[in-house]
Amino acid sequence: MPTPDPLDPSTLCARGPERRESSSRPLVPPIEMSVVYCPDDPSHVDAIYEGRSEGFVYARDGHPNAAQLAQKLAKIEGAEAGLICASGMGAIAASLLTLLGQGDHLLLADGVYGKTSTLVARLLPKWGIAHDLFDPTDAATARARCNPSTKAILVESLSNPLLRVADLPGLAEVARGAGVPLIVDNTFSPMICRPIEQGADLVMHSVTKMIGGHSDLTLGALVGGRSRISSMAATASTLGQTGNPFESWLALRGMATLGLRMARASGTAMAIALRLEDHPAVDRVFYPLLPSHPDFSLANRILSAGGGHMLTIDLGNRDHAEAFIRAVSHSIPFAPSLGDVQTTLSHPATTSHRNQDPEAMARQGIHPGLVRLSIGLEDPEDLWREFREGLEAVGTWR
Ligand SMILES: Cc1ncc(COP(=O)(O)O)c(C=O)c1O
Repeated sequence: MPTPDPLDPSTLCARGPERRESSSRPLVPPIEMSVVYCPDDPSHVDAIYEGRSEGFVYARDGHPNAAQLAQKLAKIEGAEAGLICASGMGAIAASLLTLLGQGDHLLLADGVYGKTSTLVARLLPKWGIAHDLFDPTDAATARARCNPSTKAILVESLSNPLLRVADLPGLAEVARGAGVPLIVDNTFSPMICRPIEQGADLVMHSVTKMIGGHSDLTLGALVGGRSRISSMAATASTLGQTGNPFESWLALRGMATLGLRMARASGTAMAIALRLEDHPAVDRVFYPLLPSHPDFSLANRILSAGGGHMLTIDLGNRDHAEAFIRAVSHSIPFAPSLGDVQTTLSHPATTSHRNQDPEAMARQGIHPGLVRLSIGLEDPEDLWREFREGLEAVGTWR
């Protein structure tokens, strides 16, 4: 009989388990769900918060799984440091609310993700922050709208849904000239576009998309210089925008195959784009590496390893788009997100651009005949057969 423990069973239940030290390390990082970490004494807390000792105190301020994910993302983007936020929007908000204050001005690329526009146009004015729009493919339009109050420039590497390519080197020059950071939302092009090499200061990702890769987590990330990231981490913690351990762990797991997934999806997207371009039911195909794309030459300079997994087709009008979406729905889900292992499609006019200003949509060439495809890992011939069947349904409308 083992000696009975002197503590009451209720005490034994309440206390944490005994630490079982192992002389070997796990191959896969454990998920560390603890909300709080126990320093040795108050001096140890000082040392952690002052950066003299590695460690964590409170999970909203930082925890091992987010730190591992942030470090990996910083490395793939060539940045010094990274921060994991609760969503892509959390990351954008943390960056803007750190860099901008009352009386400041932001230069925002025309046609960015709807919620980013809403944040800048509807919420930031409450903090006294103004903005102007510029054409991301033409750095001169940003230069023309820069003023002494401008404190940051925000652009997406590839726009949604027409995949317009931002002139990152030109915009970096404008930002340098004005002494302000260029922030690039690289959600549509992880691995194939490296904004920091093009002169950007901060890169943001919706990790929810291609990086997570399996449509089962919601996270965002910012990478850049150590001191800026550390200020943004303080903002994110204060506003409760930091990411949680389980989803950080899932994203790290997804990242193991990010390179393979991106290469495969890019290759398939290019092959499908070429075939779609020849199909009589398709008015136009938007894919950055097609010679017919308006930014083809910029894309060749900026995209270093393929054109990415996103591609958009113009079927002329909403009836054609609906017919196609219904006809392929048994195999290609209408799922208003992107970056999954399976191919999904979306209808920008009723989803991502639903409440957008009709004038802005018309200016950007966005209309109800567009269908956006996020290409996955299926066999390209299977996908092509399914697309062709879907396009036959459009043919009957013509
Ligand atoms: C380009 C882009 N940026 C940011 C976001 C926001 O990301 P999240 O949904 O993770 O907040 C999205 C979401 O679709 C996006 O497409």
